[in-house]
Amino acid sequence: MTTMSKMMKREPKKPTVMKLVDAFSILEDQHHEINKLFASFEAMGQKAFLRKSKIVSEIVDKLNRHLRLEEEFLYPRVKDLDEEMVLESYEEHDLVKQMIEKIEHTDANDPIYQARVIVLKELVEHHVGEEENDFFPKLRKKLRKTEKEELAADLGNSLHLTRVLKM
Ligand SMILES: [Fe+2]
Ligand SMILES: [Fe+2]
Repeated sequence: MTTMSKMMKREPKKPTVMKLVDAFSILEDQHHEINKLFASFEAMGQKAFLRKSKIVSEIVDKLNRHLRLEEEFLYPRVKDLDEEMVLESYEEHDLVKQMIEKIEHTDANDPIYQARVIVLKELVEHHVGEEENDFFPKLRKKLRKTEKEELAADLGNSLHLTRVLKM
């Protein structure tokens, strides 16, 4: 059997009826993952410089992808529904990016490194708190079902998500 025919044979049958995962849950799952990484950072010893810088790279990577996802697919779509909240969100993302840039130019064994990562964590916590407790619940109510499905599809495609739930 050729490699190609093996691959074709293994391809799963497409379910006839599919329901995409909830758009806001995708974003909230990412928040949760980032929070967990910050908690691991905080649990590390003062002198675990190498491990700390590795986990910070992971945090920065996940954060950058998350910010891009919201800026590309969520904020432009909901700007007319709540302009004030969207503008505030862009500003908060900018603060997060500025702090990331500072951290990327700081050695992990410099005493200021820890302080900068903690400030990044606090900025992210504040922003995520607003999204999860205020912004997303409003959007869940205000967006039409089809709009939420389109948003979920865009986020899913962007993340190459294959997670689909059968109805
Ligand atoms: Fe955000
Ligand atoms: Fe977010």
